[in-house]
Amino acid sequence: MALRISPSILSADFGHLVDECERVAGSADWLHVDVMDNHFVPNLTLGLPIVESLIAQVSTPIDCHLMISDADRWAPGYAEAGAQSVTFHVEAASNPRQVARDIRAAGARAGMAIKPGTSFADYEDLLPELDMVLIMTVEPGFGGQSFMEDMMPKVRRVRELVSAQDLHIWIQVDGGVSAKTIEVCADAGADTFVAGSAVYNTADPVAAISDLRALAQGATSSSWWCNHA
Ligand code: DX5
Ligand code: ZN
Repeated sequence: MALRISPSILSADFGHLVDECERVAGSADWLHVDVMDNHFVPNLTLGLPIVESLIAQVSTPIDCHLMISDADRWAPGYAEAGAQSVTFHVEAASNPRQVARDIRAAGARAGMAIKPGTSFADYEDLLPELDMVLIMTVEPGFGGQSFMEDMMPKVRRVRELVSAQDLHIWIQVDGGVSAKTIEVCADAGADTFVAGSAVYNTADPVAAISDLRALAQGATSSSWWCNHA
């Protein structure tokens, strides 16, 4: 069963972003880039010009997590710029189906994120439009927060839906994912793992990724959902 580790550069040194990305090249499957607008979330990071530079200079594919208002207007531009995966928040989109279609039409994988307080039940019919569902395991906005284990039933439910419909949709978790929490995520049904502080706030990010991958693989192979995925 394929799984993916996507280190979040939110915890990297922003003064040396390209070097920080290349430190994990060959080890990370994706690079998770958190775009925040100080409107949808109370924090500000980076936007399209920096994402474009990273796409041009970094060898690992870019997994853009857009924590920005008016996803309808802004999300397709990240796909047009060449991000291989673009995830918008359903809470920030007036027409999530159209946003997903626009992202795909621009050549990227379409991801849809939901905040901890948002139920997935209202959006189940959108699954065929999506390549990934991101279930937030913290309130979006900051790295280094505590993992919300009470989001695991949501992960399980999305996994059930994806398996039942035989869809090839990745299920991503983001927030507080670490060596202590990644197994419970994999067991619930996640197959794509964002980790910021657990990778970049360590002396050896490559070793941290390899440890996370081994833990996730072990938990996946003994999980309830693995043989049905
Ligand atoms: C939070 C971001 C995360 C963040 C995760 O809103 O979406 O991607 O970088 O950081 P950790 O892994 O430290 O919780
Ligand atoms: Zn993120």
